[in-house]
Amino acid sequence: MNYKRYKHMEISEIGMGCYALSGAYGHVDSRAYREVLEHACELGVNYFDTAQSYGKIAERTLGEVTKAFREEVCISTKIGMKDGIKPLLSYDHVVDACDRSLKTLGTDYIDFYLVHYADPSTPIQETVNALGDLKGDGKIVEYGLSHLSMENVQGYIDKGDPGIAMMELSAVARTSRDELLPIYVKNNIGSVAFSVTGRGILTGNYGKDSVFQKGDIRNMDPLFHRTRLESALRVVERLKELGRKYDKTPVQMAIRWVLSQPGVVTALTGPSKKEHLEENSGASGWSINKEDLRALDEFLGKEDEYLARKEPLVIKEIVTSPLQEDINQALSDLVYSLECAVTSKIATEKEILPVFYNLLELKKSGDISLSELTRMQSSIRKILL
Ligand SMILES: NC(=O)c1ccc[n+]([C@@H]2O[C@H](COP(=O)([O-])OP(=O)(O)OC[C@H]3O[C@@H](n4cnc5c(N)ncnc54)[C@H](OP(=O)(O)O)[C@@H]3O)[C@@H](O)[C@H]2O)c1
Repeated sequence: MNYKRYKHMEISEIGMGCYALSGAYGHVDSRAYREVLEHACELGVNYFDTAQSYGKIAERTLGEVTKAFREEVCISTKIGMKDGIKPLLSYDHVVDACDRSLKTLGTDYIDFYLVHYADPSTPIQETVNALGDLKGDGKIVEYGLSHLSMENVQGYIDKGDPGIAMMELSAVARTSRDELLPIYVKNNIGSVAFSVTGRGILTGNYGKDSVFQKGDIRNMDPLFHRTRLESALRVVERLKELGRKYDKTPVQMAIRWVLSQPGVVTALTGPSKKEHLEENSGASGWSINKEDLRALDEFLGKEDEYLARKEPLVIKEIVTSPLQEDINQALSDLVYSLECAVTSKIATEKEILPVFYNLLELKKSGDISLSELTRMQSSIRKILL
């Protein structure tokens, strides 16, 4: 395992996250996951990520696994949600949430404490004050930023002193490379990339007919549907081809591509199987040569152009045609239209978030009807067209 010096630590190029313990990728046995975390330590992984919203089991399991050698690992956890899906970043909530995370993790400091989501109801300055005080008290070493818009990121940089940034970045999720990464590089803020395997798609193990467990986020994740999936499968083929030259698997090529982006400190994956973790760790300690990187970037640039042409048409079709009768399909199509509208710059995150949260709440309530979704489709149409 290779390491990069960043802030107070030498950080492993490959990091490990605990998102799967929330059930995001279907049911995961926490005892089995603990063994994967232990195996990560054996492989030299020393960056571990979790979040309050992944459930107490995630922070507790990570804390227990790393307790005996706490100072040798770097732990990030995140705040920003209260009671499920509503964002909250008030001073009191941030301070209380930190105390709770410290208790659940069984540690007296958090290396990187991250703002998970934006809270439009709290001024950034108020959140920054809370984070600054936690830093002053030694409860956190640095604070950082995660799922935030460029506008919010700039707000935190102007008003505060974020020490790290986390972003989705993979060969099939490239927006942050062009938009967020340059801002962080300019401000000397190191970046942690997540979902670098594209939630598994870059392994080549998934295709058009893949079926996921109930509750698996990939049932609704645009990457696994429509034009995005089509493009992702072409990326996998390209990585397979290049991998033959390096004797690496497509996912190892994909992770190495992420690690070759300027400013990326570590690449997080979150497998629940030891053999997957071993494969991902094999992306450390070598590099893709400049010429191959350039050719790969050129290929990915063409995929960007393809998506820029095709996505607006798909979005229009989703919001103007009758919804599919299967509720889950209809829901996944609406999510597709919203998420892709942001990446295609048809709408801003601020514009789509209220309706996005409504959709999630509706899903969580389990009480979804096609007529309700058709009403939501009409609100979405007004925003997007
Ligand atoms: N800041 C944020 O908002 C945010 C959002 C998402 C994630 N994260 C953090 O980043 C971490 C990593 O993201 P992620 O969990 O989305 O990572 P990921 O590794 O891209 O996705 C995990 C999924 O991919 C599969 N997978 C991974 N490597 C594989 C391999 N070599 N072969 C076959 N399947 C493989 C896993 O399957 P198996 O379970 O079968 O191994 C699992 O279903 C998270 O755990 C979390 O800590 C942060």
